[in-house]
Amino acid sequence: MNKLKAFLCGSVLLAAGAMAVRPAAAAETVEVLHWWTSGGEAAALAVLKKKLESQGVTWQDVPIAGGGGEQAMTVLRARVTGGNPPTASQMLGFDIQDWAAQGVLANLNDIAAKEGWDKTIPPSLQAFSKYKGTWVAAPVNIHSTNWIWVNKKIFDDLGLKLPQSWDEFIADLDKVKAAGKVALAHGGQPWQEATIFDSVVLTTGGPTFYKKALIDLDPATFVSDKMKTVFERMSKLRSYVDDNFSGRDWNLASAMVINGQAAVQIMGDWAKGEFINAGKKPGVDFLCARFPGTQGTVTFNTDQFAMFKVGADRQSAQAKMATDIESPDFQSAFNVIKGSAPARTDVSDAAFDACGKKAIADVKEAQAEGTLLGSLAHGHAARAAVKNAMYDVITAEFNGSYTPEQAVKELVSAVAAAKQ
Ligand code: BGC
Repeated sequence: MNKLKAFLCGSVLLAAGAMAVRPAAAAETVEVLHWWTSGGEAAALAVLKKKLESQGVTWQDVPIAGGGGEQAMTVLRARVTGGNPPTASQMLGFDIQDWAAQGVLANLNDIAAKEGWDKTIPPSLQAFSKYKGTWVAAPVNIHSTNWIWVNKKIFDDLGLKLPQSWDEFIADLDKVKAAGKVALAHGGQPWQEATIFDSVVLTTGGPTFYKKALIDLDPATFVSDKMKTVFERMSKLRSYVDDNFSGRDWNLASAMVINGQAAVQIMGDWAKGEFINAGKKPGVDFLCARFPGTQGTVTFNTDQFAMFKVGADRQSAQAKMATDIESPDFQSAFNVIKGSAPARTDVSDAAFDACGKKAIADVKEAQAEGTLLGSLAHGHAARAAVKNAMYDVITAEFNGSYTPEQAVKELVSAVAAAKQ
């Protein structure tokens, strides 16, 4: 009896000991790869991290700096090829489809069916989140690239109004330049030049031209006079940037507008996240507007978390992450900070500032009008190989290595080679 008692006692002690160390070992974990490393981006991501942590899920962060995500995608490729995928990775557009085709993404259909994603997430987003009818990614937001961000004081001091057309924009930039200020805050990285290119193509040729060129990849459109004008305009914009633009990160360019060193940044609405994070208010400190001449069209990209096939020990945490991302409270809280519109159509705009409300309304209008077009710069117009080929030509021309005439020809051959 005594022996049994001693045995039972020992077992209880052992069990207690095991319980004391177990929670950490058994805790659910998500390992998340992303490129949200700027102040505004990190603040937004913290909303997801905290939500999961409140559910007992440990967040293992894999941040890979580099706007537009090129570096992140390089790291991801190495990890997946090495048989060590993260639980989830931030991903854009056609990249999701490419990974799904490799058979490495998880099937989220059960969660999607339970939570009604088919009804609440617009078809233009589903086109990227689903592969052959299977949900493989959870969309977080809808960003768009055709925006300008303006330092209000500089515009007020010079008596400038928000420009409505290309010519008005140039007239404003000329006045800022003449006043001795940096007119355009820009970071000289290929993806940032491509981001400007989205807007310049759109303002020069309108939505049909944009679609023919950047989505349908029509060679005749590449060599058109209009496309030559696009490159001439890119060179014109180059004349408004400061001498130190080369290699500058996008958020440092935003900071120039925030601090009054520069008047305007052409950038997607993640820039708003930087203004908000710096305590700035729309309509008071800064102004947001569609790139002049592109009102009514939205060149969008949607950040999605592609979910990888993971072991049984990670699947429940992965499901929680997917469910949290699509919950309306998260969609509002995250996107208010991030600068984007919610990925769900049924989220109230009540908590959003004036720029956020405009983003939501513009997306809705563009959807109804058929002018919600994928951003080339952010992987929603063409696959990565084509996108990167275009980046090369756009950057070379912007930096003076090609004339506009050469650039249109290079575009045809570079895209043809990349399509193969
Ligand atoms: C992403 C944004 C991100 C931006 C800059 C874009 O490709 O969609 O979420 O803020 O890159 O890093």
